[in-house]
Amino acid sequence: MRSSLRRSLAMMLVACPLLSTAAGGEVEVLHFWTSGGEAGAVAKLKATLRNDGHTWKDFVIAGGGGGQAMVLLKSRVLSGNPPTAAQIKGASIPEWARTGTLSSIEGVAAAEKWDRLLPKIVSDTMKHKGVYVAAPLNVHRVNWLWVNASALRKANARFPATWEEFFAVADAMKKAGIAPIAYGGQSWLDLGAFESVALGVGGPDFYRKAFMELDPSALNSPQMEKTLETYRRIKSYIGRNAVGGDWVRGTSMLIKGEAGMQLMGDWAKAEIQAAGMKPGIDVLCGATPGSANAFTFNIDSFAMFQVSGENRAAQNDLARAVMSKDFQETFNLAKGSIPVRMDVKMDKFDECAQRSSQDFSKSAKRGALLPSLAHGMAQPSQTVAAIWDVISQFWNQDRMTAAEAMAKLTQAAKAHAAAPPK
Ligand code: GAL
Repeated sequence: MRSSLRRSLAMMLVACPLLSTAAGGEVEVLHFWTSGGEAGAVAKLKATLRNDGHTWKDFVIAGGGGGQAMVLLKSRVLSGNPPTAAQIKGASIPEWARTGTLSSIEGVAAAEKWDRLLPKIVSDTMKHKGVYVAAPLNVHRVNWLWVNASALRKANARFPATWEEFFAVADAMKKAGIAPIAYGGQSWLDLGAFESVALGVGGPDFYRKAFMELDPSALNSPQMEKTLETYRRIKSYIGRNAVGGDWVRGTSMLIKGEAGMQLMGDWAKAEIQAAGMKPGIDVLCGATPGSANAFTFNIDSFAMFQVSGENRAAQNDLARAVMSKDFQETFNLAKGSIPVRMDVKMDKFDECAQRSSQDFSKSAKRGALLPSLAHGMAQPSQTVAAIWDVISQFWNQDRMTAAEAMAKLTQAAKAHAAAPPK
């Protein structure tokens, strides 16, 4: 009798976890959040999904920026084995949707009233033919400049508002024995810095014409020439830290005060916080020179692939979770970005995030809310790759002139302007 009781208890213990696994599904998510701050933020999502009874499987590709991740995603999808969701950016969402491999999450979106909660520019990006196929997590601002406060004091300088001031601060830091600019060897950093220079030098209209409309009169113009010259000037302040290493190493130099400034989106803030420093106090934030009135946005989103059975339910839960009010707050507090939902209060957020949120709204009103080219929000991936190639050549080949670069940019844009519409 006793032994049969023991047997049934043992069976229950074995059966219980099986039951809960059977009730839940698996979410396999491709992302490239591997730095300390990024991993800390994604841990919040894993915990949420596990609480819903699902199993989280990481499909994680190191490298930042996501270039390598997209290559591996393609091979998985082509072999008929897609993940549940993948971190895919704005202009690439319709590219993927056209392959017929994405799945609709319209049911969740309609029930949770996403259309009312999201700025239209965001909800449009998450849809294909009017149907939600991706869920947004956040809004990152790309045109941020981070300055180590103690390096700035040592250089006896003020936070730069223009590119001329930026170079003056860089000179002062150099004199004070501090490497002025933290950089890194990842090529996506080149395009990110370039678009911020273009925005500051040419302003929002120039940015729009050049990178959104691919207008030859902007791609080959005195403003573009000045942009390229200003961009190249940055290189002379970088020295050895331009070679090798990733953006995280650059941010770590900034945090330690080994470097004074970094041009980087607000994912850098996650690293600053994770290192126990206070954003806005120990490391100052401000718009990149000349761009205080504009906002280049980079929205992280999960595009959903076709899955079946209990994994489909898990996918819906993933979509619901990333857009929930609580998650939008917790995740973005850790990630450095701001909530994409318009109804999340900002009182728990630091000064940099509050400014980002205000600038997002102000820029939206004045038509200066601009999709980031470097982070795949402004153009389809092939167009970005073609422009990126020219900018990387210009950055790496000191003998290439601005006129040559402009001719190549115009050529690349011409070839891609004919690409199929979104
Ligand atoms: C961006 C991404 C951010 C951040 C960054 C560095 O493309 O949107 O979330 O992770 O790359 O990896």
